[in-house]
Amino acid sequence: MEQTRVPHVLLLPFPAQGHIKPMLILAELLSHAGFQVTFVNTDHNHDSLLRRTDITAFCKRFPNFLFSSIPDGLPSDHPRSGIQYIRYLFGSIKEASKPALCQLLISLKEETGSQRGPPTCIITDGLMSYGIDVAEELQIPVIAFRTCSAYCLWVYFHISKLVGEGEIPVSDENLDKPVACISGLENVLRLRDLPSICRYPKGNPVLQFFIGETTALTRASALILNTSHEIERPAISKLGPLFTNIYTIGPLRASPSDSFNGVLLQEDRSCMTWLDSQPSRSVLYISFGSLVILTRDQILEFWHGIVNSGKRFLWVIRSDLIIGESGTGTVPVELDQGTEERGCIVGWAPQEEVLGHPAVAGFLTHSGWNSTMESMVAGVPMICWPQLADQQVNSRGVSEVWKNGFDMKDTCDRSTVEKLVRDLMEDKREEIMESTDKIAKMAREAVKEGGSSYTNLEKLIEDIKSMAS
Ligand code: UDX
Repeated sequence: MEQTRVPHVLLLPFPAQGHIKPMLILAELLSHAGFQVTFVNTDHNHDSLLRRTDITAFCKRFPNFLFSSIPDGLPSDHPRSGIQYIRYLFGSIKEASKPALCQLLISLKEETGSQRGPPTCIITDGLMSYGIDVAEELQIPVIAFRTCSAYCLWVYFHISKLVGEGEIPVSDENLDKPVACISGLENVLRLRDLPSICRYPKGNPVLQFFIGETTALTRASALILNTSHEIERPAISKLGPLFTNIYTIGPLRASPSDSFNGVLLQEDRSCMTWLDSQPSRSVLYISFGSLVILTRDQILEFWHGIVNSGKRFLWVIRSDLIIGESGTGTVPVELDQGTEERGCIVGWAPQEEVLGHPAVAGFLTHSGWNSTMESMVAGVPMICWPQLADQQVNSRGVSEVWKNGFDMKDTCDRSTVEKLVRDLMEDKREEIMESTDKIAKMAREAVKEGGSSYTNLEKLIEDIKSMAS
């Protein structure tokens, strides 16, 4: 009789912060289920993670967990932060990393005397369809994990149609035109709420990349999403017929005790001490995620608006956040001066802990999907300033569907910033908190025992086990 193997899952995240973190949380959950796990980063990200963590302690806690790495195709001294790097990856990751992944899989197959052996399932990022190619070639079952919202993914499936109808590229004149052709979202979106790539000219390589990767997704045997039925039901039910299985398992949350929380940058924990000394629900947390960049003028508009609101603030200003004429710009002196009294600025914060801190009252965010889910589950209302990819769709969801914040899309002038900060923290606080609390409860219920995401995770685990038999 054939023996059932211990399932071995190989996870392949897209090499960016917003993709690595949720994939690593999933990997940890699968490891807890007793699976062998191989987590494959690019060499650069692998080194960054190792620098921030105690690998020995982690391996003691997770003896069935192996980190591996493959090249991203760039020389070792090439800059690897910011949106330019991500655009490079869109163009070249497949070519650069696919042969290395094949090689890794062959070496895992040839490993003798180890419990691990070749993977029984590959979970590849939904922007890394070369993981699907390789899995098909080697006849390994493959599941795709798309880290954006279900709403946005459903929109991505309509981009070719919108291009054909002449709605894309979205022009300045028709930004407020409603989008009628996306079933389930008829009354939600305007053209300005479509993903940022819809503003690129027809034939643009990044636009083509997203169209290609979205089509390729349906070749995977199933789809994982970091969301829950309760949060995005209309889009999830529309996506249903395109996949054999959809596992909505969110909101995924980093375990507080986990020494490997998937963070690539050095956290500055001094902001937690600063928060401890602030009054309850008095602080606006400001962060634009790992990729968004701002001009000096934009950051000054934000700064004036926030200072004029009179509110306290904790602001994450990454070293590469501000773009100057020749690359990374410097932090304007005004920020330092105005911060002393009631502000705190750090280069990178322990975001989930910050959002859970009793001093935090609101979040000025770029609406990355991880940040959106983290704020939702923490019950913190948002002001959204979306810039890239799915962020435009997410911010519309916040203002129109979940009603747990305001959408400040396409503007950041100081008077708008000031007004929305006051609305969020004072003038419209009561009404915004009513829906924020409701959605937070829904999100937390989903991942509790018996909740929809909890049950889907159990099903995912069982289905992966059956692939190993
Ligand atoms: C990107 C895209 O922008 C996003 O829209 C997509 O859904 C995923 O990939 P990113 O821009 O980094 O991600 O934003 P986001 O999805 O919000 O992820 C950022 C992550 O970094 C969050 O998990 C957040 O907790 C973490 N973070 C951010 C920190 O830990 N500290 C910080 O100071 C800022």
